[in-house]
Amino acid sequence: MIEGTDYRLTPLLSEDEIQEKIKKIGRNLSDRFKNEVPIFIGVLNGSFIFMADLLRTMTINCEMDFIKLNSYAGDKSSGTIRLLKDISADITGRHVVVVEDIVDSGLTLRFLKERLAGAMPRSIIFVSLLFKPDIAKLDFPIDIVGFEIPPDFVVGYGLDYDQKFRHLPAIYRFEGL
Ligand code: IMP
Repeated sequence: MIEGTDYRLTPLLSEDEIQEKIKKIGRNLSDRFKNEVPIFIGVLNGSFIFMADLLRTMTINCEMDFIKLNSYAGDKSSGTIRLLKDISADITGRHVVVVEDIVDSGLTLRFLKERLAGAMPRSIIFVSLLFKPDIAKLDFPIDIVGFEIPPDFVVGYGLDYDQKFRHLPAIYRFEGL
């Protein structure tokens, strides 16, 4: 437990659990794209640590790029997705692996699926470290999910509350006091 004057963080996933899961996901992706060069697209800001750790487990050639979206203010989704930075790479005809930190309502993923499909990739799969199945409203499956978690607000390992706590190596349930 980590306590500040106005918040409490309760451990949810340890650094070891996260790193073990990422190795498994990396093996899965390396097998799946054995003779290909997929391009990984990380969704900023939340996925930057997951993306860095995941890429270092890959045993095949791969490329990467980032897209930056925003829908959250504090611990609430605004319900509107804003594109803050588009990808620079040309993904036409490429195998694309979208790397998300967390799927909550699923709005961001739906936005990404439509936007990236417009560029005519050869294939597109979605990987999310965390998934809140009780909240998400998705009409398509997430191809790879690290952990299903309860519908609580979480921070750490790239995930923030008002831009804080991203640097923590483990994941915590966040409560404002
Ligand atoms: P969605 O569009 O509701 O699925 O939300 C996706 C984005 O909201 C994620 O990429 C995160 O940036 C942010 N988000 C959703 N749930 C949480 C959470 O529990 N902690 C921190 N950020 C979250």
